[in-house]
Amino acid sequence: MTTSKRSRLDRFLSVKLGINRGDVRLMLAKKQVMVDGVAATDIQQQINVFTHVALVNQAGGDSFEVLQDNQSQYLMMNKPTGVVSATTDEQHKTVMDLLPEVKVSDLHIAGRLDLNSSGLLLLTNDGGWSRALSEPEAGVSKCYRVRLEKPLTEDYIQAFADGMYFSYEDITTRPVALSIVSDYVAELRLVEGRYHQIKRMFGRFRNPVLALHRYAIGGLLLDNELAPGKYRYLTKQEVKTIKRSD
Ligand code: URA
Repeated sequence: MTTSKRSRLDRFLSVKLGINRGDVRLMLAKKQVMVDGVAATDIQQQINVFTHVALVNQAGGDSFEVLQDNQSQYLMMNKPTGVVSATTDEQHKTVMDLLPEVKVSDLHIAGRLDLNSSGLLLLTNDGGWSRALSEPEAGVSKCYRVRLEKPLTEDYIQAFADGMYFSYEDITTRPVALSIVSDYVAELRLVEGRYHQIKRMFGRFRNPVLALHRYAIGGLLLDNELAPGKYRYLTKQEVKTIKRSD
């Protein structure tokens, strides 16, 4: 996984170039360091692995020596059922097998879906971005539509909102907003993703989940032009709907 830890520009340059902080200060004063295309002025400027850093060629002219040029990638997929959210699997096809044109070795999955679940799956090489999606504290909601074997009752709404104690992890689930769409169909909004969380919560009512489909994560909606198994890159605007955490 590509990390996205932030570091200070002076630290980055002194490690990369083997120089001390005084030399870094001097380079900045001479406007020799370009950060995302702009001459850097502050040695304390924060950068991450996707910040473009280049040195102006000292011999003059317009050339640059690029010190860091990692491209961040963000994809959405409409995950079909029967495909595993993993990089490798001995038994089943994985979501990575559905990305033949993409260099998948850098990518990781930002919020898995079970083998038999479908819908919005995000993949990225940006660890800060995917962390922000998953940390319950960040409050990014995940929306699901669920079809059940037995009819729903109003009791479910309160029980999901109250949270349920999972002894295995020793946690109580955060409030889940459940709305009843029809006798056998509910929509749910969660801010966390515990192992098989939704199935386990309906398990308390002894009501098996027959189908589970994720249609939104935060402000990102599954593109309804994407057939199951298809993917596309996120737009810059879509990426920004999730605030990176570094
Ligand atoms: N909860 C589940 O039980 N399964 C999923 O795939 C996602 C949430």
